Amino acid sequence: MEQLTQVLATALSEMNDISSIHDLEQFKSRYVGKQGAITAFMQQLKNLAPEERKAFGAEVNQIKSQFEDALNKQREIILTRELNAKLANETIDVSLPGRGMSAGSLHPVTLALKRLTDIFAQLGFSVADGPEIETDYYNFKALNIPDNHPARAMQDTFYTESGNVLRTHTSPIQVRYAETRTPPIKIIAPGRVYRVDMDATHSPMFHQMELLWIEKNISFANLKAIISEFMRKFFEDDNLQVRFRASFFPFTEPSAEVDIFFAKTGKWLEVGGCGMVHPKVLNYMNISADEYTGFAFGFGIDRLAMLRYGVTDLRLMFENDIDFLTQFKGL
Ligand code: DAH
Repeated sequence: MEQLTQVLATALSEMNDISSIHDLEQFKSRYVGKQGAITAFMQQLKNLAPEERKAFGAEVNQIKSQFEDALNKQREIILTRELNAKLANETIDVSLPGRGMSAGSLHPVTLALKRLTDIFAQLGFSVADGPEIETDYYNFKALNIPDNHPARAMQDTFYTESGNVLRTHTSPIQVRYAETRTPPIKIIAPGRVYRVDMDATHSPMFHQMELLWIEKNISFANLKAIISEFMRKFFEDDNLQVRFRASFFPFTEPSAEVDIFFAKTGKWLEVGGCGMVHPKVLNYMNISADEYTGFAFGFGIDRLAMLRYGVTDLRLMFENDIDFLTQFKGL
């Protein structure tokens, strides 16, 4: 009996140190399992005299149930402790400030495009577009660039197998838009254009914007006013010098190249081409050249974005390097 009480005392003191359910179950079988220390006393019953058996049996059962009560309590304690630890781990302090999500930035071409569209919207122009895979007719012929015309060599063209082209400029949108409408026509048309060319200042894909205004009595003076006003607004410089240099384009007559004086470098920079819409092109547009006149203007959006944001290599505009792009955050 003394031994039995001793075993219980040892068991109870060991039990207090057990901190996991797994260890507790192993501990349990060491005492009340098949080969357990308390079980062993039960097995001794058969060696006792019948009159001792009853009392000893009752004693063993009593010890066993004390052990099991203590075990169940310890199990509760461990489970509660585990649950509390888990809850503490998963606690969310809802009063903490969030980690925040960093906002992205707009690509400089997109930024420039937004500015351009805003400026021209204020000047009364709406936005038109056209397909990037273009027919020979719209890209060349209807712009007064017939087959074998030397002007075709000015633009190294990507041809598709079906005989179409990747548009080499946004000018085809002029005819596409105007052929089904009657003046006044006052649009801008931005978009991607393609040419076989690639170096620090040329990319096989780049962006242009076309401008077309056809109405009664539109003159070269209107052209100069609109383009100068636009350049000054875009560069936020009321004194920006804009120069028109006589030039040639098949779809305009007279034609000019537009230069701006770039104070940073002290140099004149060519930014686009323009002119009065050629009567033959008006004809392709189903617009009477006797009744209406108009002017067109085309320029590279990437080029203007680079000048405005101080980017010196055109390739940067298309590599989509994150460090490059994040510099435009918030603009
Ligand atoms: N399409 C010409 C080019 O890509 C640019 C151009 C010149 C457009 C004169 C025009 C224009 O609308 O009038 O080189």
